[in-house]
Amino acid sequence: MCAIVGYLGAKSAQEVIVEGLRRMEYRGYDSAGVALVDGAGTESAAVAVRKKAGKLGNLEKLIDEDPLPPSTIGLGHTRWATHGAPNDRNAHPHLGAHGRVALIHNGIIENFAELRAELEDAGHVLLSETDTELAAHLLELEVESGADLTTAMQRVCGRLDGAFTFVALDARDPDRIVGARRNSPLVVGLGEGESFLASDVAAFIEHTREALELGQDQVVTITRDSVSVTGFDGSPAEGNRFHVDWDLSAAEKDGHDWFMRKEIFEQPRAVADSLLGRRGADGALQLDEMRLSDQELRDVDKIIIIAAGTSFYAGMVAKYAVEHWCRVPVEVELASEFRYRDPILDYSTLVVAISQSGETADTLQAIRHARTQRSKVLAICNTNGSTIPRESDAVIYTHAGPEIGVASTKGFLTQLVACYLLALYLAQVKGTKYGDEIDQVLCQLEAMPEAVAEVLGSAEQVYALARSYAERRSFLFVGRHAGYPVALEGALKLKELAYLHAEGFAAGELKHGPIALVEDGVPVFCVVPPRDRDFLHDKMVSGIMEVRARGARTIALAEVGDTSVESCSDEVVRLPRVPVLLQPLVAAVPLQLFACELATVLGLDVDQPRNLAKSVTVE
Ligand code: F6R
Repeated sequence: MCAIVGYLGAKSAQEVIVEGLRRMEYRGYDSAGVALVDGAGTESAAVAVRKKAGKLGNLEKLIDEDPLPPSTIGLGHTRWATHGAPNDRNAHPHLGAHGRVALIHNGIIENFAELRAELEDAGHVLLSETDTELAAHLLELEVESGADLTTAMQRVCGRLDGAFTFVALDARDPDRIVGARRNSPLVVGLGEGESFLASDVAAFIEHTREALELGQDQVVTITRDSVSVTGFDGSPAEGNRFHVDWDLSAAEKDGHDWFMRKEIFEQPRAVADSLLGRRGADGALQLDEMRLSDQELRDVDKIIIIAAGTSFYAGMVAKYAVEHWCRVPVEVELASEFRYRDPILDYSTLVVAISQSGETADTLQAIRHARTQRSKVLAICNTNGSTIPRESDAVIYTHAGPEIGVASTKGFLTQLVACYLLALYLAQVKGTKYGDEIDQVLCQLEAMPEAVAEVLGSAEQVYALARSYAERRSFLFVGRHAGYPVALEGALKLKELAYLHAEGFAAGELKHGPIALVEDGVPVFCVVPPRDRDFLHDKMVSGIMEVRARGARTIALAEVGDTSVESCSDEVVRLPRVPVLLQPLVAAVPLQLFACELATVLGLDVDQPRNLAKSVTVE
């Protein structure tokens, strides 16, 4: 969603803020804006604002033409539009009626209409269509009536419904910035003589790696050398201090044209990191943050996996692994649908929430619902300290490092790893697999970083393929068993990056309708199961023949040495030989490369596709 950053220190606030926004632009790029305190500490102190629709570059151009005054206190925002079109007027920051208070916001204020009516009745002129501007006016009314900015923020938050994370400053009180957090993330950066507030630590790791994570419904006040936290009701509270253990290079492109491409190539490392430290001294599988007891896990008689988008497809793969290794029934649900169908849940249902960002509102609301029904919730998450793991009973963190490209890649592969680990751990605790069988799969998993590196070796072949299909407007993806979610993921990558029609199907379903889409020249990607699954494999090969007979261009993703696909495929991309349940870890990679390259060839912005944002903090 939107990105928020606030700075108070000795450096140029403009430089720190614009750089911070650049590092978080993946969160939203409909508009960008900065507000600084001009003449801090003087009678004439005022807020100076520059804001512009479009990407951050547009704001930078505006500041070049119309420079901001020097200042060491300010805030900045990039927007993913909710209330009001993405134009200059609706861009944040927003000011109070007299321009004394500036405020930025991530979220949606639900009692927007009644507050707007109240302000308009009192004679306020609102310049934008946003819900944010209302909060700026309310906040300024409070400070004008004598409250300090912290108290004012507490009072305003107490009046609002919905999701809102704010950062605000008052030109007359230039030694503090105040933030408030409900639902979307807000972290504090604690530097030497300087403090930061941001949606993501990426905004300030260049300056400090010491951070404080805020809880739900908290107000935070930063000065240059202090931080204090309260609840919305003013009661004292504490945030959690933590050290950021990745460095700036993780948030940079490292010579690649796109973050996404860099992240695709980081996958062998990300998979290896996600497997690190998972064995105890006796070699058995251990999961450190598994805060559920063995008895609680033994009592689990049903698992419901909830997630959105790519994470949902990781959940689909998990179903195959958990049911096969643990013999526990698994349902996989779209988070946005889950609570509306009145799901049957109780204390013996384990709900697994998969989320790279840990902030997806649909998933968050789904786990809240599950917990009210007494179910235990386990989060699989890549973002330390984010809301979903904080509100879960247990967590398995993936160790992909920061994922900045809006389309998930290494996030997906490491989610798969975490799902396999969870399935094996359940099998270990429930005794549905012998120790040596679990050890064997763990060894196979430990060989996967090398297998992923091997499949990355086919990048040039895949790029050439993407270039050769640059004119096509429609693509199909088919797979069976664990290859089916891979087909869906391949189609999603192409849709979101190249804005093309792309659909994924279970190969066996083609003949029940979708085969009508096959026409001369339509490219069909076919995820072919390993040969030792002869039943699945042979059915897939028949499926390839059927679409080819109808004019499709078939691209098989098939394991090394599988000659049976050669006669029915226009192109074969080779996958390393791996067990069928682990095949998604290698089969997804060429599809990521294909989508990335095709979007590049089409001249599109791979890291920031239109209409999308990295973490979707609205329902
Ligand atoms: C697709 C993509 C999205 C996310 C989805 C869930 O490339 O990135 O579909 O997977 O929005 O996000 P998280 O995993 O952060 O909950």
